[in-house]
Amino acid sequence: MNQVYDKLMKCAEIVKAKSNFEPETALVLGSGLGEYAKNMDVKSEIPYSEIDGFPVSTVAGHDGRFLFGYVNGVPTVLMKGRVHFYEGYDMTDVVLPTRIMGLLGAKKLILTNAAGGVNTSFKPGDLMMITDHISTFVKSPLIGKNIDELGVRFPDMSHVYDPELCDKIRAAADKLGTKIREGVYVQCTGPNYETPAEIKMLRNLGADAVGMSTVCEAMAAAHMGMKVCAVSCITNMAAGILDKPLDHKEVQEAADLVKDKFEKLITEVISTI
Ligand code: HPA
Repeated sequence: MNQVYDKLMKCAEIVKAKSNFEPETALVLGSGLGEYAKNMDVKSEIPYSEIDGFPVSTVAGHDGRFLFGYVNGVPTVLMKGRVHFYEGYDMTDVVLPTRIMGLLGAKKLILTNAAGGVNTSFKPGDLMMITDHISTFVKSPLIGKNIDELGVRFPDMSHVYDPELCDKIRAAADKLGTKIREGVYVQCTGPNYETPAEIKMLRNLGADAVGMSTVCEAMAAAHMGMKVCAVSCITNMAAGILDKPLDHKEVQEAADLVKDKFEKLITEVISTI
């Protein structure tokens, strides 16, 4: 018996019993998109706390629920609130909600997050489409007995961020007149921000943005054959670039400032992918 798969199936059964909605697209909301549900014709909601065994966020202000409904007519499941590795959950729990959305039928996954700009040409408030990632600094969510029902033991990670979906994001940004950066996102464990020396190292390794989420979810989704794309909101320059300390409140405030353009971009992406 595979305990991870067992728990996943139990949670998926609870969700299916509470909602028979069949999503095509799944969206994970990061900072800055917390109010995205207002762009959606919501048909039902399930708080994570009603799903026995489900990881529940311990971060103040991180609401946790699935919302099911339509964005411009597209059946969508939205994750309002995610859990992070730094909260102490195992990686298999961190990616459990993503896997459930895949099991509900979502073929496409849009991940969003707040991130620090490692590329010095970026500015706070920029949006960055993730073209590739570095997962080396966090535990892979695929460690442990492989769940053959989901995917293969040694999955290819050459194109985690689906090239066709990336093209659609470029087209959506172009249509809206929104400038979009592109680059490599690196997931660190958090909860502390990085040191200036770590940021220098990450830049030397080819990273453009740094955060505490997303990569593990993208890997789990790619493993099970979902088409993945992702957009970061650059909320701050990473440590050591500017002569000022990093602060969670500033990250949230910066994310709030760009939420309109971020929401519009995501709606356009959901409508066209
Ligand atoms: N580092 C890590 N995670 C983050 C940052 C950062 O600078 N900004 C927002 N999330």
